[in-house]
Amino acid sequence: MFSSTAVLLTLMALGYASPIVYRQEASPFVFTNSNGLNFTQMNTTLPNVTIFATGGTIAGSSSSNTATTGYTAGALGILTLLDAVPEVLNISNVAGVQISNVGSPDVTSSILVQIAHQINNVVCNDPTMAGAVVTHGTDTLEETAFFLDATVNCEKPVIIVGAMRPATAISADGPFNLLEAVSVAINPAARNRGAMVVMNDRIVSAYYVTKTNANTMDTFKAYEQGNLGTLISNTPYFFYPPVTPTGKAAYDIRNVTAIPRVDILMSYQDMSNDTLYSAVSSGAKGIVIAGSGAGSTSSNFSLAMQDVITMHGIPIIDSTRVMSGEVSNSGFDPEDPSPISSGFLNPYKSRVLLGILLAQMRNVTEIAGAFNGSATFVG
Ligand code: SIN
Repeated sequence: MFSSTAVLLTLMALGYASPIVYRQEASPFVFTNSNGLNFTQMNTTLPNVTIFATGGTIAGSSSSNTATTGYTAGALGILTLLDAVPEVLNISNVAGVQISNVGSPDVTSSILVQIAHQINNVVCNDPTMAGAVVTHGTDTLEETAFFLDATVNCEKPVIIVGAMRPATAISADGPFNLLEAVSVAINPAARNRGAMVVMNDRIVSAYYVTKTNANTMDTFKAYEQGNLGTLISNTPYFFYPPVTPTGKAAYDIRNVTAIPRVDILMSYQDMSNDTLYSAVSSGAKGIVIAGSGAGSTSSNFSLAMQDVITMHGIPIIDSTRVMSGEVSNSGFDPEDPSPISSGFLNPYKSRVLLGILLAQMRNVTEIAGAFNGSATFVG
């Protein structure tokens, strides 16, 4: 009795152009590539995709099929997710990598660094791979999407996908979202667009996307910038040719192993300066303020920020707690102990970007350049 892998290798050695090996129930993996990725089928006429699974509601399970809250996120593995949508194998060969299986609030910066390294190594650097899909909880999905958009530096699509209903719910959205994500990842028109979030028939730029509703399925939007495209009958349709978001730079984190701590503090009436000093004394290496309106804080808090910048040399980014809009940059002066404006980046994206910049040991002028879109460095 020959194993299916042996059959495949024999067919390849004999020079068959398109050996097709279907998934075997007894042993789910029929092909292992040179990077050690295990594929559940290898049909050489189809594009290859790697799915990196991290957990979240898309892998969530509940004892009730009507529960859309109070379930366990990150309960099901990648093979179970794929079993729910075998149609994925009609359009692609899929390798699954289980990075973690947690709710997305438990996704750490070291998990992010690991995913970015793996996508750069086993997808970007492998000409046989079409693209990457990352399955993720929706609560912090935009942070991971922004991180991968900044740190995966190749033309191949990186699609981040989640679900708002657990896999056990009636009309769970995960299987169709996963199929749509793979459809975008293998589509040539999706190249050179950075990372994208694909959910609920919409394709949205990872640079701009945010979660807009805590409960509903149509939650991921870029209010001002709009969608890049849509999917109709599982076929991606892009509204525009590829473009790069204004101010976006690419960061090479090959030598980065850890992201320094960056804390977010929100501005509100009667805000105490203690929160700022406490963040600093607890080890934050950078601070992001979710300011009120276009980045305002109380007069007292503004003085405390100047003190922290001057006395501790800690960069502070001034963003906004409002859903959309800009904290505008009136010009950066390294001698002036003012916070750096976030531009259009919300506090969560600002935190991720500041973490990357601090990991690369960028100075304050370079950090300001990255936030106002005039960064001259790439890498
Ligand atoms: C999570 O973010 O892990 C839970 C919520 C979700 O995925 O929708």
